[in-house]
Amino acid sequence: MSEAILLVGGKGTRLRPLTLNCAKPMIPTAGVPFLTHQLARLRDAGVTHVVLATSYRAETFSAHFGDGAELGLEIDYVTETEPLGTGGGIRNVADKLRSAPDEPVVIFNGDVLSGHDIAAQVAAHQERGADVTLHLVEVDDPRAFGCVVTDESGRVEAFLEKTPDPPTNRINAGCYVFKRSVIDGIPEGRPVSVERETFPGLLSSGALVLGHVDSAYWLDLGTPAAFVQGSRDLVTGRIASTAVPGPTGEKLVLPGGEVAIDAKVSGGTTVGAGAVVGRGAVVEGSVLLDGAVVEEGAVVRDSVVGAGASIGAGAVLEGVVVGEAARIGARNELLTGVRVWAGAELAEGSVRFSSDAG
Ligand code: GTP
Repeated sequence: MSEAILLVGGKGTRLRPLTLNCAKPMIPTAGVPFLTHQLARLRDAGVTHVVLATSYRAETFSAHFGDGAELGLEIDYVTETEPLGTGGGIRNVADKLRSAPDEPVVIFNGDVLSGHDIAAQVAAHQERGADVTLHLVEVDDPRAFGCVVTDESGRVEAFLEKTPDPPTNRINAGCYVFKRSVIDGIPEGRPVSVERETFPGLLSSGALVLGHVDSAYWLDLGTPAAFVQGSRDLVTGRIASTAVPGPTGEKLVLPGGEVAIDAKVSGGTTVGAGAVVGRGAVVEGSVLLDGAVVEEGAVVRDSVVGAGASIGAGAVLEGVVVGEAARIGARNELLTGVRVWAGAELAEGSVRFSSDAG
């Protein structure tokens, strides 16, 4: 096994405003663009050649990763002029693949953080001579996901859309092993969804599609809450990544980041390069991107503070996303789900929620 495709062309709308100027897989996560963690995991599993299927903000990938040599990989890039969806994106990179028709190609959604054993998934695929082998995870509440039904041998019998009463808690985790020839069989030059078209089509043609259950750490970083969680799990070491630039622990302070002596920074927080946490401030389980400023006495929990944004003295943020260069005036209180657009300014004390706010 030596080759992988990463699907990184999505617009990442659920992560706006962080994705307005930045592709989702390029958002700094525990000190490096998120994709770096996946690339390191693929390399550690024995992959040597990676093709990035790009579309939205395509140029940012090659500008950062270049030919991949720094990561010990060979990276190629293919850009869709019109987004082709997941299956179309896979088909569109076929010319760059080097594998023979029967050889396995690993395919990852670009926003999944997974601790599963990739080499074991490939081995299971090879042993059974499968056409496609999907990584499946078991979730507590499968109602929000498409479920994958298998027989006792692991053969996939059905892909089910979201339903209120799912017959299984196993869901598609967004990492596949494809036989190279199956990739060549996806229709060319038009949008195709692997989930809605390719996989059901394979089942009805009698192809061998396997489900490979692995219950290691797994998270889809598509939403702000999941993004913050993934970042803090990387910083604390709950999910191991050789790409984290520093020891794991309560916080990761990047070079040039400053934390005042009496500030409390914990819970897997990242303090970006040139970011500043002022006196008496509390920052828990959050991501402060480069140059962000948290002023004296402010409290920031489970939030993302964009590059160059500032949080005024005494402000309280919980579960909030603050866009690049936005300014949150002193003593504002912003609660879960609030998103402040890049460059926006919130006057001092203009939003307050607590009953004792006067
Ligand atoms: P949302 O807009 O927030 O749903 O995010 P998204 O655009 O990334 O969509 P989604 O999370 O469903 O995508 C799953 C994976 O497929 C992600 O890694 C995307 O980058 C990737 N992807 C989605 N659409 C395309 C596409 O048209 N082309 C390519 N190359 N990749 C895609």
